Amino acid sequence: MSLAVQEGDDEVRVRVPAKINLALLVGPRRLDGYHELATIFQAVSLYDEVAASAGEGEDVTCQVTGPDALRVGPADQNLAVKAARLLQNEYGVTEPVHLTIDKRIPIAGGMAGGSADAAGALLACARFWGLDASAADLAGLGSRLGADVPFALMGGCALGLGRGEALTPTLSRGRCHWVLAFSERGLATPEVYARFDRLATTRPAVPQAPQELMMALTSGDMARIGALLANDLQEAACSLRPELAGLIAAGTEAGTLGTIVSGSGPTVAFLTADEQAATELALALSEQGVAHRIRLAHGPVAGASLVRG
Ligand code: C5P
Repeated sequence: MSLAVQEGDDEVRVRVPAKINLALLVGPRRLDGYHELATIFQAVSLYDEVAASAGEGEDVTCQVTGPDALRVGPADQNLAVKAARLLQNEYGVTEPVHLTIDKRIPIAGGMAGGSADAAGALLACARFWGLDASAADLAGLGSRLGADVPFALMGGCALGLGRGEALTPTLSRGRCHWVLAFSERGLATPEVYARFDRLATTRPAVPQAPQELMMALTSGDMARIGALLANDLQEAACSLRPELAGLIAAGTEAGTLGTIVSGSGPTVAFLTADEQAATELALALSEQGVAHRIRLAHGPVAGASLVRG
């Protein structure tokens, strides 16, 4: 990937997708505190945009816009800011940068919004500063920031092993149509994993790649994909947010191909047969008032990509 800045660039803007884990199989907790995973990521058409432009004074400044902007924590905890600082350190950059993040992915929603912002900042800043960084270089730095960052850069559909950062792209035919139901309050991922550990009666085995689901994705059999959606964190997320049970039941009753809590939750993703079925389900759920916000999305879509600069 060539990241040379073009003459006259004053802003570099990158669009980064959210993800859904179609399968999230969780194994034992490792010595580094992470859990061994076998997961199938799918990037979906719900995006944050990260822009890099000339900064002043401080190394990295950051402004967040979007419906939940006020809920974003302080800048020094923002993964996008950490990503920009990491690039500065690794490449010896002294030039400051200002980041603008337009947030559409729910905060602490189980859709890797923070990781998307980190991925966006890595790509936008590398381009803005004209760094000679390959896609593999950025993915390597990304995995130091969070387990989901490499996938946000890659997009599409992928098998994730290890902490979820060891990625293999997987074949996928057809388009998944999703209805996404957001909750008002997010869930902290470490808390959900801790609840998973507490709920486990025996030590879980190291999970294997979900072969049946991968075959269903290759053939584009949406009904089969729906039947094979699996999330080992779902019970933990639902025990921390009991109201999710009503939301899941409402969607199931209205008719879906499959329903899953996305990642560590609390976002719930309903798979539908086509765009019309998705619209109808979204309307039915809106009328029942069972979710804070509802969005339609499809997948798979491309990973972090330049929209300007
Ligand atoms: O890597 P990331 O910062 O996204 O992970 C957030 C937290 O989620 C980790 O600190 C850990 O508690 C938990 N986690 C885990 N096993 C994974 C991924 C995340 O236990 N494979």
